Amino acid sequence: MRYILSGLAAAVTLAACMNAEMPDASEGRAAYDANCAMCHGASGTGDGPLAGDLSVKPVNLTTLTRDNGGAFPVNRVLSYIDGYKRKAAEDVEMPEFGLLLEGPSVPIETGEGVFTPTPRPLAALLAYMESIQK
Ligand code: HEC
Repeated sequence: MRYILSGLAAAVTLAACMNAEMPDASEGRAAYDANCAMCHGASGTGDGPLAGDLSVKPVNLTTLTRDNGGAFPVNRVLSYIDGYKRKAAEDVEMPEFGLLLEGPSVPIETGEGVFTPTPRPLAALLAYMESIQK
């Protein structure tokens, strides 16, 4: 019995550590402001200072959840940012963000019960983007 209990305590401690390491929205805000706000706007609605100069309008990032049936589209956003899923014009307009892809990874849920190791700066950015959904 004691072994079971100590195993349980270890599992709880591990879960607590993982949570402590998960970046929250405030950590991602700086990355958003530095890398995304110039096009997508300070509040994410697509009205950044560069938006007018682009041939393709930056997407309103605050309605991603609403447009996806109420669930934040983690995989779609991830693949946009790391450049996998772009249309021809998108390659021109949206730069890739190598720096966001560096650093230690944290597990983020990318499907029901599926966790994908994700570079911490990118996980923080995702948390921020999720926090600005309307
Ligand atoms: C140079 C301007 C520019 C910058 C900087 C930029 N974007 Fe974009 N983004 C666009 C444009 C234009 C589109 C719409 C066309 C397209 O899909 O590429 C877009 C589309 C997107 C989409 C697709 C939304 C959908 O429909 O699924 C996401 C997600 C996104 N951007 C996130 C980001 C994030 C996060 C950052 C910062 C790390 C960022 N963008 C920085 C111009 C930019």
